[in-house]
Amino acid sequence: MSGLELRNICKNFGSTNVIRNLSLDVVPGEFLTLLGPSGCGKSTLLRIIAGLELQDEGSVAIGGRAVDGLRPKRRDVAMVFQSYALYPHMSVARNLAIPLLMRRLNTLQRLPVFSAFVPGTAAKKAEIASEVARIAKSIGIDHLLDRKPSQLSGGQRQRVAVGRAMVRQPAVFLMDEPLSNLDAKLRVQMRAEIKELHQRLGVTFIYVTHDQVEAMTLSDRVAVMLDGELLQVAPPQEIYTNPHDRRVAEFVGSPKINMIDVKVREGGLAKIGGQVLPLEFDAKQDTLTIGIRPEAFRLTDSRDPNSLSSIVRLIEHMGSDLFVHVDLSGVPDPVIARLPAWSSHIAPGSSLHLRITTEQVLLFSKDGKRLKPQASVTPLRGLVR
Ligand SMILES: Nc1ncnc2c1ncn2[C@@H]1O[C@H](COP(=O)(O)OP(=O)(O)OP(=O)(O)O)[C@@H](O)[C@H]1O
Ligand SMILES: [Mg+2]
Repeated sequence: MSGLELRNICKNFGSTNVIRNLSLDVVPGEFLTLLGPSGCGKSTLLRIIAGLELQDEGSVAIGGRAVDGLRPKRRDVAMVFQSYALYPHMSVARNLAIPLLMRRLNTLQRLPVFSAFVPGTAAKKAEIASEVARIAKSIGIDHLLDRKPSQLSGGQRQRVAVGRAMVRQPAVFLMDEPLSNLDAKLRVQMRAEIKELHQRLGVTFIYVTHDQVEAMTLSDRVAVMLDGELLQVAPPQEIYTNPHDRRVAEFVGSPKINMIDVKVREGGLAKIGGQVLPLEFDAKQDTLTIGIRPEAFRLTDSRDPNSLSSIVRLIEHMGSDLFVHVDLSGVPDPVIARLPAWSSHIAPGSSLHLRITTEQVLLFSKDGKRLKPQASVTPLRGLVR
């Protein structure tokens, strides 16, 4: 099994720095996702790994071997593209077989008619056909082998693209937003299939997406990317609960984390929604931002001395939950609280008493860095007792 090492990769297109001194180690057999907004350089990085694009600086190693001088087909990787990149004029069987035909047959054996007279051709072609059949069966497309890509649904095309990557038996699978052309329901189904495929094959996957749900559900680790840099590389839960940076906290989580700017008063106090909160953090700050995820709010009542009073603006019904948009006094933007669906007495215009679950609250300095709580102290200590 092969891992992957990227060292100080830089890539410019003209005067634009698309990848900025990026380093990353991917463990053999890991499912690592590159997660970031459109245009942050995800596809470029994947293409550099595949050898389809050359970096300006830095090096790529696969399985401990530098591959910088190697052409794509010598790198032992297979890529699934967002567009699937199937050959439209060839059958599914032929699309699947192409990587093997190119690799195993010599020039004479690939000639249309003449190849029949070249010794060994028939045996090799039979071997390839049986491998194609085996892989097609394993991913449920064996009944489609005679069709052309235009005669397939989006999900079936996606499977063919994955199958074509599989026949190469690569050390590393590279997948560039493979589910983005599918409808929501199919995306969920195919997501599970990709996860299952990774578990079955046990090889390294590098998966590109801007969809945080895909990143969170599929990955062993998520690498959050912005403007050609990696902000944080960590397991999904860690990215969510312990972001190092405000941009990571804001990119991951739906609805988005609520960010409230506060002035730190004497004695480390801050005021939100008319409530004075004692803060504890490990640095001297005059102003900071408090990040509160929607689920960190809970319902309480007016007798609770730590409640934040708020007015309901609007309610989004999600079935299992409500996303309640509320105005807190003294806070310019509305915040979103995720509350259980049975909180049925909530109505637009009514007042609501909320409290914050202290352990889930995150503090950020003005420059966006996460402020860690002082050792052995809970963040916002004393807010909820
Ligand atoms: N061949 C190229 N020539 C010039 N600029 C390019 C080229 N390829 C990509 N870029 C630019 O590099 C930046 C990163 O592009 P890239 O395709 O890697 O982004 P991405 O993160 O994959 O975005 P998306 O999620 O939209 O696919 C973009 O600003 C893009 O316009
Ligand atoms: Mg892309």
